[in-house]
Amino acid sequence: MQNTLDIKVAKTTASRLQETDFNNLPFGHIFSDHMFVADYADGEWKNFQIMPYGDLSLSPAIASLHYGQTFFEGLKAYSHPDGKIVVFRPEKNAERFNLSAQRMCMPELPVEIFLESIAALVNIDRNWIPKAAHHSLYIRPYMFATDPYLGVAPSKTYKYIILTCPVGAYFSKPLKVKIETKYSRASEGGFGFAKAGGNYGGSLFPAQEALKEGFDQIIWTDGREHAFVEELGAANVMFVIDGKLVTPSTRDTILKGVTRDSVLTLARKWGVPVEERRVSVTEVIEGLKSGRLTEAFGAGTAATIAPIASIGYEGQLYTLPDQSQAEFSNKVLKTLNDIRYGYGPDEMGWNYVI
Ligand code: COI
Repeated sequence: MQNTLDIKVAKTTASRLQETDFNNLPFGHIFSDHMFVADYADGEWKNFQIMPYGDLSLSPAIASLHYGQTFFEGLKAYSHPDGKIVVFRPEKNAERFNLSAQRMCMPELPVEIFLESIAALVNIDRNWIPKAAHHSLYIRPYMFATDPYLGVAPSKTYKYIILTCPVGAYFSKPLKVKIETKYSRASEGGFGFAKAGGNYGGSLFPAQEALKEGFDQIIWTDGREHAFVEELGAANVMFVIDGKLVTPSTRDTILKGVTRDSVLTLARKWGVPVEERRVSVTEVIEGLKSGRLTEAFGAGTAATIAPIASIGYEGQLYTLPDQSQAEFSNKVLKTLNDIRYGYGPDEMGWNYVI
């Protein structure tokens, strides 16, 4: 793409690429050589820079550390067999970035800056994109408040940073999950739809409790009655019930996932009946008992399509049919992978070529 941002580039003189083990890429631990950094001050975005990945020097009083005025995005870049580098649907992430910004009282980032900054960074670190199946370069743009001020008020200054990480699969096996009946991830009128840091910080304790009980992840339910299913861990959740694809409709407690949207779009294109609506816990449990619920999976950028093997609820564990044979989720994963990895046609125009 045409670069119109004035980006100051300082390349590393000590690349870590050669010493990185691409056969061992636990999610989010290994960072590529460079990062993108920009500042917001005096009502505008400025100081666009690409620099070696490294520590920042910041005031200990910055508002984001105290009051959580921070949010992020997650998307992925892929390397195609013909040498093309693509990012999957970054325009959707740009849109959501600004939804989060509005909710957190933070400045919006023009879509062109979002796209160009990602393109410039991924281009410089293009050799960090893993080529193995299910691997990719995870891109983490984020923004945080930098006013050194302890009053509870929106900051006037911010940083926008992008990091990238070569990653393998987020989950190594089908998930044993628990329907949460005590804690909630988000509340009505809250900011569950935003990718605000606090949504994830608040999920750690319940997730740890679930882990102690032997579960891998939580199926979050509504905070009012714990009667309706909302999300799965840090991903959207989907079910196949009576041959229909059923997923909670987006609302202020639910993230508008890019993978979620991609799955629903493909399902509709294939003529699979799709229902976006409230999904009750009772319906899920009845579906598991009767065998009408045949598939359950998480859908997210990091998680991709993450099959659920079993669901715990009120002391009972319900096992799903073998998800390695699941018709819809396997087909959708294969189709998404064909598009993203360049093995099949990109009929939707979802790949953003760098
Ligand atoms: C993503 O899929 O990008 C996420 O937001 C999950 C992340 C918190 C690991």
